[in-house]
Amino acid sequence: MTTGPHGANEVGGRRYSAVAMALHWAIALLLIGQILLGWNMASLDEGSSGPKTFEPIHISIGLTILCLTVLRILWRLTHRPPPLPAGLARWERVLAETVHVLLYAMMLALPLTGWFMESIGPRPVPFWGVSWPHFPSVNAFLAGGDRREIKEALEGIHGSAMVWVLIALVGLHVAGALKHQFDGSPVLWRMAPFLKRPTGQ
Ligand code: HEM
Ligand code: HEM
Repeated sequence: MTTGPHGANEVGGRRYSAVAMALHWAIALLLIGQILLGWNMASLDEGSSGPKTFEPIHISIGLTILCLTVLRILWRLTHRPPPLPAGLARWERVLAETVHVLLYAMMLALPLTGWFMESIGPRPVPFWGVSWPHFPSVNAFLAGGDRREIKEALEGIHGSAMVWVLIALVGLHVAGALKHQFDGSPVLWRMAPFLKRPTGQ
């Protein structure tokens, strides 16, 4: 492990690496925008008579989030994060780490269900003006009659149940980060590049 004057970019230092921070904040912002867009795209697209504008944007952002999340998980598996501050109780560590794992799971599950349901049927999946491949073998395995039902069920799971699970997890995550910010074992500076390292950390 290396610790130097610029611990921010050091693997095993006391801060997350610059790549981990950039991916954390880019994905967090994109996810929040994506939920707001998801909730509003049907009414935004309603007025126009031609092809939809906002749904392809939602799909393209979602697939971008999928790529960034895969990249982030690969980065995480190959770069050890800084250890949590010593002052945390065991249950706090377990809760924080469980929430992290569940957040990663939802960051994958949301775009994967979106990609899966958009791959049902012959329509190409739009990705910033080009076609993204269909989810492998979806149409070969699903019998014609089941397709509509499965697609509708997935749309419900994707757009409501999963989104609410993600929102609840982010709520817990942010509450935890803020609690520790003020109870003497701050963690925010480890992920926020513009915050100073507190003295004694
Ligand atoms: C990456 C994170 C994603 C989030 C957080 C997200 C979130 C949402 C939300 C909140 C809705 C609105 C549901 C409603 O109010 O009915 C929605 C709908 C939708 N999403 Fe996503 N989405 C994501 C990724 C994707 C991807 C990758 C695709 C496709 C490849 C996709 C395709 C769709 C479609 C087609 C709908 C409309 C479903 C319907 O007609 O009811 N989404 N999404
Ligand atoms: C959609 C929103 C967000 C998602 C999906 C998300 C996800 C994550 C994940 C998965 C980790 C674990 C990193 C690791 O692998 O070790 C993490 C760490 C962290 N996040 Fe977030 N996050 C979000 C928003 C926020 C916000 C708004 C804050 C600020 C209040 C925040 C503060 C932190 C901090 C401080 C850490 C480092 C925890 C530590 O010190 O171990 N996150 N985030």
